[in-house]
Amino acid sequence: MKMSDRLDHLQELREKAKLGGGQQRIDRQHAKGSLTARERIDLLLDKGSFEEFDMLKTHRCVDFGMEKQVFPGDGVVTGYGTVDGKTVYVFAQDFTVLGGSLSETVSEKICKLMDMAMKNGSPVVGLNDSGGARIQEGIESLAGFSELFQRNVMASGVVPQISAIFGPCAGGAVYSPALTDFVVMVQNKSYMFLTGPKVVKATTHEEVTVEELGGAAMHSSRSGVSDYAAVTEEDAVVYIRRLLSFLPQNNLENPPVIECVDPGDRLIDDLNHIVPESPNAAYDMKEVILQIIDNRDFFEIKENYAPNLIVGFARFNGMTVGIVANQPAYLAGVLDIDSSVKGARFVRFCDCFNIPVLTLVDVPGFLPGTVQEFGGVIRNGAKLMYAYAEATIPKVTVITRKAYGGAYCVMSPKHLRGDINYSWPTGEIAVMGAKGAVGILYGREAAKQEDSAAFLAGKEKEYQDKVTNPYIAAQRGYIDDIIEPSHTRLRIIKALRLLQNKRDTNPMKKHGNIPL
Ligand code: HXC
Repeated sequence: MKMSDRLDHLQELREKAKLGGGQQRIDRQHAKGSLTARERIDLLLDKGSFEEFDMLKTHRCVDFGMEKQVFPGDGVVTGYGTVDGKTVYVFAQDFTVLGGSLSETVSEKICKLMDMAMKNGSPVVGLNDSGGARIQEGIESLAGFSELFQRNVMASGVVPQISAIFGPCAGGAVYSPALTDFVVMVQNKSYMFLTGPKVVKATTHEEVTVEELGGAAMHSSRSGVSDYAAVTEEDAVVYIRRLLSFLPQNNLENPPVIECVDPGDRLIDDLNHIVPESPNAAYDMKEVILQIIDNRDFFEIKENYAPNLIVGFARFNGMTVGIVANQPAYLAGVLDIDSSVKGARFVRFCDCFNIPVLTLVDVPGFLPGTVQEFGGVIRNGAKLMYAYAEATIPKVTVITRKAYGGAYCVMSPKHLRGDINYSWPTGEIAVMGAKGAVGILYGREAAKQEDSAAFLAGKEKEYQDKVTNPYIAAQRGYIDDIIEPSHTRLRIIKALRLLQNKRDTNPMKKHGNIPL
């Protein structure tokens, strides 16, 4: 055969593979307002950077007429490319090929990619749009899922793993994205659940729509499965590209440092006035964050889930930093089950990938009540404690106002190996608020007084003056310095510079036993 014929033949095969399940199914995908697997990859990666693997790999199933349904590449497109010049491995399930269902072959393609990503140390982005296990294959498909889960777990903490959900993701298939570090969904387009509305109705008699049961809004605000509810597929891809810009390629690298035009020594007078006079009045911690970071550029994770704790990435003098901050403007910034888990997972991610954590503290304590206790606030609050205590990354903490009780102990204090701990002069560091403390200490005595309210008010003032301030903690060295709020950015940057070469380790062990 002539060389030109050989090249034509190769080109023909490639063109066929590029059509996935055929033009008709591509049109159907477009009619739904969805992109195809290849279009999604093109959107994610730098223009022209995609290199595909296994374009011609096919399934080997011959049951249920499958020998007639062979599509080169099968139900997933895999390969690598760059995002802002850095290598990223990517797979995109192709809904036009048997509903993007996971066959033995699809699993082999994704696993091969993940093995390479781990060996070569680059992130994996999975673009999911699939009807789940390939029904015609049965056990091979299930085995394929488990192979994938195993890779997800082995890659966890080695390379960042990010999942986008662009269509269905149901049954056990949800567990692969759930094992990755970040999940992005698209509003009114994607859904994740173990069993769909029909099964739910049959078993629990609940009437629920697909969107209510497993849509982006639900998972981003109630279950916490998703980190972001994108408005469109394009929005989801922009979110992933931005997320990647903060991250190192793998656990052996430090996060990227970019050029910073925002002066590191910028003083912020507004912060001297942001904490209200009344201890019960709220202020917006997000404004504090925006003022101190580079260029007000905050990349928030799980914005709509447990908003009493803010987590996300920002930069200080060009360095990536993970921020964990109580939000006094929502539920007074109290810690509860959801916020503890949210914070713990974020801190652990940062620790995996050498990202320093800045903790901003204004927390009145843990939320009391039966809902929390029955739900295991002890076990779940312990997760946050565990995450901070085991983390060996640089840890900088600034107490802006309240740091009460167990919540003080959790929020990256000196005693959990906090490296640099500052407080604003408005800091209130104590076992509990003055009112509660005085009630316990002087309740009986107050009852004997003629004017018990005045007696308690006096004691409250005394307790406040004596205990609810940052100076006792500073005297003990638990706080390294009381800083002017206006100097916060400058002091954080200095602290981060100091900690750039920090070395810390945990005792040798197989792994710890975080209270799951
Ligand atoms: C093989 C599948 C498939 C599957 C869809 N298709 N799901 N083929 N295995 N799991 C095929 C359809 O036959 C159809 O082929 C094409 O994909 C598009 O599907 P439609 O039904 O026409 O699309 P739509 O109406 O959009 O519905 C999408 C859907 C539905 C909701 C995903 O297809 C569906 O319910 N599929 C089955 C889902 C499921 O039960 N999967 C198993 C879950 S259990 P043609 O030729 O017409 O284009 C599981 C276990 C994992 O995943 C365990 C891991 C531990």
